[in-house]
Amino acid sequence: MKIELVFATNNSNKIKEIEVLLNAQYQLKKLADIHCEEELPETHHTIEANSLEKAQYVYEKYNVNCFSEDTGLEVEALNGKPGVDSAFYAGDRDADKNMDKVLKELDGITNRNAQFKTVITLILNGQQHQFTGILKGKIGFEKKGLYGFGYDPIFIVDDGRTLAELMLEEKSKISHRALATQQLIAFLNKIQ
Ligand code: IMP
Repeated sequence: MKIELVFATNNSNKIKEIEVLLNAQYQLKKLADIHCEEELPETHHTIEANSLEKAQYVYEKYNVNCFSEDTGLEVEALNGKPGVDSAFYAGDRDADKNMDKVLKELDGITNRNAQFKTVITLILNGQQHQFTGILKGKIGFEKKGLYGFGYDPIFIVDDGRTLAELMLEEKSKISHRALATQQLIAFLNKIQ
């Protein structure tokens, strides 16, 4: 019998990406499939705690095995900010304003080191497991590139391009989210 696993998202693209990588024993579901229509709570001050909170909420309220993810950009010279506040750093969910705020705060600062961090929390039969993916890079001095989303246009990776200059397939190979997801999938495929 298939093991049902709810991915705490309503983004069907994210579901499809993971579905093809999982063993046939798993049946992935999204929040809408379990009639969870409310916003998941994110009341904590770390990416780890918010990731756990979302998974715990779904597990406890809907009594299903599930996993959630939470992501943030951590800039060294800003003491890890915007971090857990990445989505609403400049007040609302506006990527351009968020990037402008980071660029302004780094004005005149030579240390441009930064990282993206994704934390996935899996709750399987009551047991919690976290998987962390980190992508290190640098914050540029201006926005560059047309692909991706969020802070991608100001995040420079090893080869000198911003994440927004990478095609989706390229980003998917190296991204923080991909690294965390690979660990989740390796874990799930190993225990079955
Ligand atoms: P979430 O946890 O996936 O909702 O991400 C929180 C915020 O981090 C988003 O609103 C984006 O601004 C930013 N973010 C997350 N993942 C990425 C990424 O892969 N590239 C750029 N920004 C990202």
